Amino acid sequence: MGERDHMTGNMNGLYGSAAQQKLQAATLAAADRLRDTPGAVFAARMAGTDDPDHFGWDRIEQILRDQGAITFRMTPTEDCPDIESRLAEIGCTISWWDVFDGPRDSIRAACDDALGQARDDLVPAAPSGPDDFAFFEKVQDFIARCGIAPYPAQVLSGQTGPAALAVLTDPADGAIAATAFAYFPYNAHGPHHATAWAGLVAVHEDQRKRGIGVRVNALALRAAVDDLGAERVQQFARTTNLASCRMIERCGLRLRRDVRSGIAQPEGAQSFTR
Ligand SMILES: CC(C)(COP(=O)(O)OP(=O)(O)OC[C@H]1O[C@@H](n2cnc3c(N)ncnc32)[C@H](O)[C@@H]1OP(=O)(O)O)[C@@H](O)C(=O)NCCC(=O)NCCS
Repeated sequence: MGERDHMTGNMNGLYGSAAQQKLQAATLAAADRLRDTPGAVFAARMAGTDDPDHFGWDRIEQILRDQGAITFRMTPTEDCPDIESRLAEIGCTISWWDVFDGPRDSIRAACDDALGQARDDLVPAAPSGPDDFAFFEKVQDFIARCGIAPYPAQVLSGQTGPAALAVLTDPADGAIAATAFAYFPYNAHGPHHATAWAGLVAVHEDQRKRGIGVRVNALALRAAVDDLGAERVQQFARTTNLASCRMIERCGLRLRRDVRSGIAQPEGAQSFTR
């Protein structure tokens, strides 16, 4: 089966494998509930929690059974082993990322510096409107080809809440060369509601290591603090992904050793994203 056969988008805004689209559809359908429930996180690709005890382990188990994935966000590092054993009891495992974050002012200063140093000739591009599905599908396709599980168009376009999508294109043919995205996953019940999450950062393989990752990420972060009013912005990466960590730090965020974020899945399931 070729890549195009299982990585497809469609006019309902969903994108990816059948399993990914099913999860996106369930998450979109639950969006209002996730925004209203203490301890819940609207993680776009799946449901999530930033307070498992408050959200409820019954609910977590049910989501894992019905949907096959849930994300744990901003988990105190000392609580990670407990969560791992609790998940093991129900036949699930969790893959953790490291969390980077920073306050608005540091991000502004670092991003201004980075944007001032950008030397590429790429051109920013934007959709004609929130229902420009052709644009969002190109973005989703590009992100998926870079190995990152894409988001539904409804989230990328801001229909599910304030969002900032940065896209850089090649002036020669209009092809997408880089993407980054920011939005608010946390709800008003928790301590992180004014923190935006940024990610979906990808640079075309042929154009890497030229500062484009830093530029596109800085564009999304700048929009998160200036246009969306984020007080802090966070990003996730594995510390083994050196380019990603370095890019995030160049944009004014710092590694948080006190918290981690991860995706829980049934044992043996294919890793969800990079
Ligand atoms: C991560 C990614 C977006 C970086 O884009 P990029 O355009 O190559 O990054 P930049 O050129 O802006 O480089 C950013 C920093 O990382 C460093 N870097 C880049 N590639 C690197 C590599 N392979 N190993 C180590 N450091 C690297 C650069 O030197 C630079 O640091 P510096 O400012 O100290 O010199 C790109 O590698 C990518 O698309 N990867 C696949 C998708 C992915 O992993 N996304 C992140 C998910 S969390």
